[in-house]
Amino acid sequence: MSAIEKYSAAEIIAAKRDKHVLNDSQIDWVIDAYTRGVVADEQMSALLMAILLNGMQLPEISRWTDAMINSGEKMNWSVLNRPTVDKHSTGGVGDKITLPLAPLVAACGAAVPQLSGRGLGHTGGTLDKLESIPGWRASLSNEEMLAVLQDCGAVICAAGAGLAPADKKLYALRDVTATVEAIPLIASSIMSKKIAEGTGALILDVKTGVGAFMSDPEKAKELARVMVGLGKKAGIKTRALVTAMDIPLGLTAGNALEVRESVEVLSGGGPADIVELTLILAREMLEVAGISGKDPEKALKDGSAMDVWRRMIIAQGGNPDAALPVARETKVITAQSSGTMLSMDAMKVGIATWRLGAGRSRQGEKVQAGAGIEIHCKPGEKISAGAPIFTLHTDTPEAFARAEEALTDVVTIGDLAKGESVDRLPLVLERITE
Ligand code: URA
Repeated sequence: MSAIEKYSAAEIIAAKRDKHVLNDSQIDWVIDAYTRGVVADEQMSALLMAILLNGMQLPEISRWTDAMINSGEKMNWSVLNRPTVDKHSTGGVGDKITLPLAPLVAACGAAVPQLSGRGLGHTGGTLDKLESIPGWRASLSNEEMLAVLQDCGAVICAAGAGLAPADKKLYALRDVTATVEAIPLIASSIMSKKIAEGTGALILDVKTGVGAFMSDPEKAKELARVMVGLGKKAGIKTRALVTAMDIPLGLTAGNALEVRESVEVLSGGGPADIVELTLILAREMLEVAGISGKDPEKALKDGSAMDVWRRMIIAQGGNPDAALPVARETKVITAQSSGTMLSMDAMKVGIATWRLGAGRSRQGEKVQAGAGIEIHCKPGEKISAGAPIFTLHTDTPEAFARAEEALTDVVTIGDLAKGESVDRLPLVLERITE
């Protein structure tokens, strides 16, 4: 280590190990020194585990977030003549809401600069979904991003290497050191990127339930409150909704299948839960951006959201009229008994989708555009023995066995007593504005 370094990593690790509050200068140094390669991965791993075990106070989380933002560039959209607003979802199975939502909110007068991610593990990623559209490009320069935003009102693309580089290193390290699930680390990771992205307003969709990162609703609410606090402190008008991820959203999971369903929503159709959540989030985004008098439901029905979608896809090299990729093989899974579907495990559907080839287990792996699952029956609906529940799609039929294994006991079918309804989470569990 150079003699001019202000601290040693070991003293900061020891402080957190012994449950002390890290001061601003220690946090600034450790994030900067890690980004520069002065703090080694094994030292940062120890610190991350100490943070996971002993937690951080709000001022520490806030400073940690600022230090991650300061590790890279901060984007600025002040040349735009519309208010900027973005939405971030903590991720779930079948969560394709960003696809119809961004053009919809743009059609209502906001500018939506969406920096999105790729799927890792059982949850899908917005960029992987959009890349199933022939020609569509996720990587844009800052100038290209601004041009698409100016022309279309919305842009969905990958974050460039210059945005919160500390988070890129930290996220990869957390992934392999079992330190992803710490609220201070999740909150700072998400919010550093959203604050650096330069949006003026932000709606957070924090998922909870068996298919979410934060399966415990109380933990999800705590995460939402911490993120709203970080956003407000950074001067961003921020709200969070804690929403259900106990069952998959909509009737598809998998890249091209989810694009197809999103286009149905933009055409004025689509599954009721997707339409409902898209409209709830659109209204929150418009309100927080200070836009009134616009009806997002009308913009879905009259084709104006679809117009923005088409322009946005074309501006990024895609062909919105091209046929979407279709998997080479399909297999139908049928119900074993008759009755009402009482439950469907979102996590199992997510893992099966991933095993069919829609997701990746290592960063950089190629995903299959056509792979995934179509859902033919959802909880609350009646089904007869032998009727289809799922159609599995893949280019690699050897994947069927492992996907079916993941789907063991994925649904329960039974009888509801008179007046009884299926036991599931409400679509929106909590709205957090403070
Ligand atoms: N998404 C992120 O960007 N970071 C996390 O830590 C979790 C989800």
